[in-house]
Amino acid sequence: MRQSPPPRTYRVKSFGCQMNVYDGERMAELLAERGMSAAPDGEDADLVVLNTCHIREKAAEKVYSDIGRLRREDGSSPLIAVAGCVAQAEGDEIMSRAPAVSMVVGPQAYHRLPEMLEKASKGERATDTDMPADAKFAALPARRKTGPTAFLTVQEGCDKFCTYCVVPYTRGAEISRPYSDLVAEAQRLVEAGAREITLLGQNVNAWTGDDDKGRAIGLDGLIKELAKLPELQRIRYTTSHPNDMTDGLIAAHGEVDKLMPYLHLPVQSGSDRVLKAMNRSHTADSYLRLLERVRAARPDIALSGDFIVGFPGETDAEFEETLSMVDAVGYAAAFSFKYSPRPGTPAATMDDQIALAVMDERLQRLQAALNRDQLAFNKASLGKVCKVLVERKGKYPGQWLGKSPWLQSVHFEGEAAIGDIVTVELAEAGPNSLSGRLLAPAPA
Ligand code: SAH
Ligand code: SF4
Ligand code: F3S
Repeated sequence: MRQSPPPRTYRVKSFGCQMNVYDGERMAELLAERGMSAAPDGEDADLVVLNTCHIREKAAEKVYSDIGRLRREDGSSPLIAVAGCVAQAEGDEIMSRAPAVSMVVGPQAYHRLPEMLEKASKGERATDTDMPADAKFAALPARRKTGPTAFLTVQEGCDKFCTYCVVPYTRGAEISRPYSDLVAEAQRLVEAGAREITLLGQNVNAWTGDDDKGRAIGLDGLIKELAKLPELQRIRYTTSHPNDMTDGLIAAHGEVDKLMPYLHLPVQSGSDRVLKAMNRSHTADSYLRLLERVRAARPDIALSGDFIVGFPGETDAEFEETLSMVDAVGYAAAFSFKYSPRPGTPAATMDDQIALAVMDERLQRLQAALNRDQLAFNKASLGKVCKVLVERKGKYPGQWLGKSPWLQSVHFEGEAAIGDIVTVELAEAGPNSLSGRLLAPAPA
């Protein structure tokens, strides 16, 4: 194995969910703390971290092709670390199939990346896929940089074991980060310029902890505490599981102004038989009743969901039940996927795997319904006057892009700056964004 000079520049490429984005930022901070800097756009990096996702098929194949593409014209490669959920699930295989990879580091072990790098610079290869996560957060440096919107992982792992899903295997058992650490990290983020924080977890609403008086609290308690940070204007959380939506969290949507009116609550299917086979432990009806309670607490809430079509054994009639569910809810946004058999999960070996052509057709119909509802939601927002948090410049000079409280992308023209919260009247609506008329610039 080759020796190489210590790497000076890095690039972290994150795939998959927002928790991977958070992890990718934290890995970059670890490397920066060691004196490395981000490779400028378009330039080769000395170290490339591929922060991978394992949720659907072909993810691992994509990793191998990404590794191949990193080879330079002279045949050399940068130092390569494979991190994230593929690293956790297939670390040994990556090491044997891809000699260009010197480090494999799981999502709960990446705080040890600097030590691994030390070894890799000496030509040694290293794998670390230890679990669980509690040591990791304590070993990470303090947050220093952020844009106006920031992610904060509060909970990791999953104990739900839906029969199609790899997350319980790649991320391990549910853990909640301690309350005081989270308040401190949120404070840091706000000091560094965050105006909105999205609390993250595979099952974020399963978060529990003890507040500073030793009282047991849930996610709603944490949200209420963070809402006291004066410069923090907006709080969001994702992803939630229907079974962990407590009364307190539902009520918080009506009580906490800074908690934005948006809830991502995956349901996967509208058929009780399919939900049971998925081990979702809720029914279509209990999910709909839950949403009614959320809407009673916050009538204007935007709802979003995740769906899987073509779970093994799903019949046409069962798929129709999913379409009925969509009609009943009227989602503001949604993600929908073809079922993808994942090695080691119970569903992968179930009978009646559905033909790809059937899945394709179902996905198209589902997405047509979801797109219709998303456009309808956006159109129903026309004429509303709302606050927009400015996230970046738009495509045209003088144009800005930001998010409405309902997580819609809004572009507008006028005087503003990144991080401002401006007042806008929503004037035109498309399926993916709205245009707004600036009514009042941000208070100075
Ligand atoms: N913890 C969250 C979501 C985690 S994964 C929850 O339970 O809702 C994000 C989404 O990916 C899931 O909601 C599901 O819709 C989709 N997904 C997970 N495994 C999948 C698989 N094997 N095939 C297709 N989609 C899958
Ligand atoms: Fe996967 Fe289900 Fe856990 Fe979500 S709740 S991460 S879908 S096992
Ligand atoms: Fe993917 Fe792992 Fe997230 S499998 S969706 S990166 S938890």
